[in-house]
Amino acid sequence: MNLILLGAPGAGKGTQAEVICEKLGIPTISTGNMLRAAVKEGTEYGLKAKAAMDSGALVSDEIVIGILKDRIAQDDCKKGFILDGFPRTVPQAEALDAMGVRIDKVIELAVDEEVIKTRLTGRRVCLKCGATYHVTSKPPKTEGVCDVCGDPLVVRKDDEPATVIDRLKTYHEKTAPLKDYYEAQGKLVTVEGTDTVAGTSELMLKAIEG
Ligand code: AP5
Repeated sequence: MNLILLGAPGAGKGTQAEVICEKLGIPTISTGNMLRAAVKEGTEYGLKAKAAMDSGALVSDEIVIGILKDRIAQDDCKKGFILDGFPRTVPQAEALDAMGVRIDKVIELAVDEEVIKTRLTGRRVCLKCGATYHVTSKPPKTEGVCDVCGDPLVVRKDDEPATVIDRLKTYHEKTAPLKDYYEAQGKLVTVEGTDTVAGTSELMLKAIEG
């Protein structure tokens, strides 16, 4: 099964992708995670992506389509995959269609903007292993320390309040039109994402199976 998770920054796409990929036994492809890894490694496209990511803008379609194409060609994607954070623009969705990739469902996680702001400003991440926490809804066992690898937790640069506002603006301008795009293809399902992580996962799985 090939799925797309759509939703504003902080809607819980990454959190839900972890649960769903475990349940369905298919990999999650997060362009955000791939880009952050490239920035960390200092690759050519990582260097190009960094300024856009730090400012809350999108990385160019050309770069993102290139990395997505390489990733879905890998063997572990043959049984299906979950796209988290791609496509993010209509040209990216058109490129996916042009690649001949069949998408079964597009699940939109709908979350109120005030909740989103609280989620993003309270998020803490481990730069070493990628684990994600939240100061109130998913605190680590020891404050400021990753449960998985023991490294210090940090605030993602693009989770600073001013950048969150820019990311939400970018979402409305560039990504929200994808709802109409996939609605027209009869693939869009909207799931309320304001329940607990477990409660939302149940709704997501019902939407995927339904
Ligand atoms: P990316 O990493 O994809 O960022 P995003 O879409 O802004 O997504 P987030 O990771 O911020 O949110 P999420 O919905 O995954 O929420 P999460 O589950 O972590 O992209 C980063 C940047 O890379 C972009 O801004 C862009 O520059 C670039 N980029 C990436 N893909 C691109 C593309 N295709 N084209 C161009 N540029 C691209 O949850 C957030 C917090 O809330 C966490 O702390 C979590 O613990 C908490 N939480 C989650 N669910 C719940 C819940 N139910 N209850 C309580 N707390 C919850």
